[in-house]
Amino acid sequence: MRISVIGAGYVGLVAAACLAKLGHAITLVDIDEAKLKQIAGGISPIHEPGLDEILSQVSVETTSDYERIGGSDLILICVGTPCNQDGAMSLEYIEKAARQVSRVLRLKANYCVVAVRSTVVPGTTEELVIPILEQSGKKVGRDFGVCMEPEFLQEGKAVYNYMNPSRIIIGQLDERSGDVLAELYKHVKAPVIRTSIRTAEMIKLASNAFLGARISLINEIGNMCKALGIDTYEVAKGVGLDDRIGSKFLNSGIGFGGSCLPKDLRALIARSRQIGYEPEILERVLKLNDGQALRMVELLKTHVSLKGATIGILGLAFKPGTDDVRDCGAIKIVEALLDGGAAVRAYDPAAMDNFRKLFPQIGYAGPDEVLESDAVLIVTEWEEFEHLDYTGKIVIDGRRVSKAREARIYEGVCW
Ligand code: UDX
Repeated sequence: MRISVIGAGYVGLVAAACLAKLGHAITLVDIDEAKLKQIAGGISPIHEPGLDEILSQVSVETTSDYERIGGSDLILICVGTPCNQDGAMSLEYIEKAARQVSRVLRLKANYCVVAVRSTVVPGTTEELVIPILEQSGKKVGRDFGVCMEPEFLQEGKAVYNYMNPSRIIIGQLDERSGDVLAELYKHVKAPVIRTSIRTAEMIKLASNAFLGARISLINEIGNMCKALGIDTYEVAKGVGLDDRIGSKFLNSGIGFGGSCLPKDLRALIARSRQIGYEPEILERVLKLNDGQALRMVELLKTHVSLKGATIGILGLAFKPGTDDVRDCGAIKIVEALLDGGAAVRAYDPAAMDNFRKLFPQIGYAGPDEVLESDAVLIVTEWEEFEHLDYTGKIVIDGRRVSKAREARIYEGVCW
């Protein structure tokens, strides 16, 4: 199939690389020429296992010129949908991409399908994208088809997730539109759900709402367990054996971060308010999450006075396996430490460059030097932290690194 991918960010780049590997002819469009050059050279601009390898094997046409996508059978819109100040989803890039695709459709002779892969709030594809596409003078359903196909990629496992999806959700305008995506995924051994466009949009946001709620719930149980002298991880083990509940995503700690869960929950809350429904559970989920990382600082203060102390941070990324620091717990923690008059010295195997852009004023060092600090906070559970020597140290652990229990003073945030 001739497929064009709009947006060379996380979602678009993984899709472009994996679809090229599956034998499709891919054109990847982005406005960032430097990024495109890097990709064309076989190097991924993001830290994602397996991506460099695929990019060095396949040929992906990269361009900033939308005219080059005129021959496509399928156009995937994969641009970012960041948060506005008020938490609502910004649809600026979706709108821009739709306008460019509309210009392409105007001159296009053959039928093609435009699929939204960006995470959008329910209603966006039908109320915003389709009207813009129809400004081309072409008629939706007759001259072109439309789908919404959410992605469920986890950073650090995105290539694996793409090639081995848990499910394929095809939100289709009509059968003809959906058939094009169904054909694309016919080799995939995963359940395929064909549904309406707005249902597909909601499935994505509802999935992230469940994941976020699950983490906040286990953190709430964890906060109780901490006060009651109970180990939450043992509780989670006992609870997770109930197959109605399941054992995944029950790790209590400093809460969820990253580019998706916090943003998507805020967007769903904002959308819900727009339609006059107050989403009380989701609001509490976010509120609990917002305070969770700071519990580490409160625990720290019971052992060390912040003023004049040097506090070490092990781990900055929002989770292991990525260099992503968007909405990560380390941001709130470092801000609180600096406000309290402490000096901060941090280490992360992948995310120091990104974190330095946010906090140029703190120290960055290797793990051994970080361990020389007056106390150490473990903020990301990188595997290498299981091999450090914590003896004699004061450690506050936000992520359950077993080896750190050998410290002179050890406190887990929820255990
Ligand atoms: C998430 C969704 O999992 C994915 O389906 C969606 O497409 C994008 O958002 P990702 O942001 O890569 O993926 O991270 P994920 O692995 O889900 O972790 C999110 C956050 O939750 C991390 O900060 C992680 O540390 C935290 N987490 C996860 C917990 O605190 N406890 C857990 O048990 C699991």
